[in-house]
Amino acid sequence: MKGIEKSFDRNQVLHGVDFTLKKGSIHALLGENGTGKTTLMNILGGVLPRDGGRVFIHGEEITITSPHMAAEQGIAFIHQELTLVNDMNIYENLFLGCEIKHGIVVGRKEMAKKAAEILSLMQVNLSPHTMVRDLNASYKQVVEIARALMKNARVIIMDEPTASLTDVEIEHIFTIMRSLKEKGVSFIFISHKLNEVIEICDAYTVMRDGRVVASGSIDNSGQEKISENDLAKHMVGKELSYDDLYVQRELGGVLLETKNLSRENEFHDINLTLHKGEILGVTGLLGDGRSELFATIFGCNPKYGGKILLNGKEVKIHSTRKAHRLGISYVPRNRKENGIVKDLSVSHNMSLPILEKLRNFLFISRKKERQSNEYYVNALNIKVSDINNSILSLSGGNQQKAVLAKALGSLPQIIILDNPTQGVDVGAKLEIYSILMELSKQGVSVVVLSSEAQEILRVCDRIYVMCEGEIRRELSRSEATEEKIMVLATGGTLSDETQTA
Ligand SMILES: Nc1ncnc2c1ncn2[C@@H]1O[C@H](COP(=O)(O)OP(=O)(O)OP(=O)(O)O)[C@@H](O)[C@H]1O
Ligand SMILES: [Mg+2]
Repeated sequence: MKGIEKSFDRNQVLHGVDFTLKKGSIHALLGENGTGKTTLMNILGGVLPRDGGRVFIHGEEITITSPHMAAEQGIAFIHQELTLVNDMNIYENLFLGCEIKHGIVVGRKEMAKKAAEILSLMQVNLSPHTMVRDLNASYKQVVEIARALMKNARVIIMDEPTASLTDVEIEHIFTIMRSLKEKGVSFIFISHKLNEVIEICDAYTVMRDGRVVASGSIDNSGQEKISENDLAKHMVGKELSYDDLYVQRELGGVLLETKNLSRENEFHDINLTLHKGEILGVTGLLGDGRSELFATIFGCNPKYGGKILLNGKEVKIHSTRKAHRLGISYVPRNRKENGIVKDLSVSHNMSLPILEKLRNFLFISRKKERQSNEYYVNALNIKVSDINNSILSLSGGNQQKAVLAKALGSLPQIIILDNPTQGVDVGAKLEIYSILMELSKQGVSVVVLSSEAQEILRVCDRIYVMCEGEIRRELSRSEATEEKIMVLATGGTLSDETQTA
């Protein structure tokens, strides 16, 4: 790609971007939130028209004006939100829109056979007849990749493919990517998880404010491998350090407690405590029940067994409204599905939960709304050209910050965050962790649900590791390590357990 230019209205987003991808390479496209990565890929994938610049494959200039034309050139785009149909099986999904037909007869056997070939090419042990609904998140990603291969893709664009996957599942995807790379398929890999980038990618390009600021190879054969820190420095233009983030604090007494909290098929016999001013981490694999557990504590599921106690007294939390009234606030896991109201502006999204407090008699005080929103836009450094624009015009990471602002706006005593930094860039992650630390110093209790062990280890005072709907073990900050968390999350036991027993 040479000299790519793009503006939205008067806002120029790409300023003459050059990007080169080699055959059989996995190339990381990096940069802070709102820097133009997705926009550049949308242009390559034919989703958006460009204002200037040219695209070449094997030295020949090509025209791409639609996703269909991109597919014809062998360019496949796997968007972050998966686009599979749950009520169909794998081969029906793979052939959706390009079914094999003989006259009016659909060649089901043929499609199933072809699908099986692709899956075995990827060395995945899956029947093409499996319903997509029954697949876990990483297998769904696998099916997306299979679909790209079906179309004979030679370039596969993956925009934050691992944002909602856990470490074990990510490894699975990586294995497949490596074997395809050997066969000459190239990948463009967008991610904010720099440890993964170092692990899987061969080359990197870093963008800042719509321009390329650095590029090179990750594994400089013979020389020292580039580090996470180096990449982060290119991205934010300065050194980032997590060293001063965590501060040892005096915690208060138990604020929230559960006794044998259970919900059928989700979690059972949960006995947990949360202290005043504590940052509690809860981690495990996908499907470990942590999201369901805390959604229940937030009142999303009125039917539960066991007890929830607040300040030592039992409370019945049968609605989210009740939870709000008790001072509990919640940032859900899937931003696109549950976190934002797509039809509203940035400003109205942020002030949704505090409308009551902004009300003057019958009218909402727009002045107070504006003041409150401006405060959070500054505090969280949200990149927005006009707060009255649709929330969808923000980049992914900035949408996430707006959702966080929404949860903070109601001044909660307990804040539950499910995957709080998904899609957030390294600099902004640090900002978000600092905000959590600041909140806890002010006595707010914070619960961080995350599948990223690194994240949990950075900010949390205490950690619960969950597996198959139960708490496997509690770890103090000092004893927790990535390895221990991994062992417990996958159902194992720690060797020291036998010793202490
Ligand atoms: N449809 C649109 N209308 C108006 N502005 C847009 C639109 N799409 C993107 N933008 C703006 O273009 C800029 C680049 O956005 P883009 O989504 O490419 O960022 P990104 O690098 O992918 O960020 P992230 O890491 O958060 O996903 C942002 O400032 C964004 O607000
Ligand atoms: Mg993006």
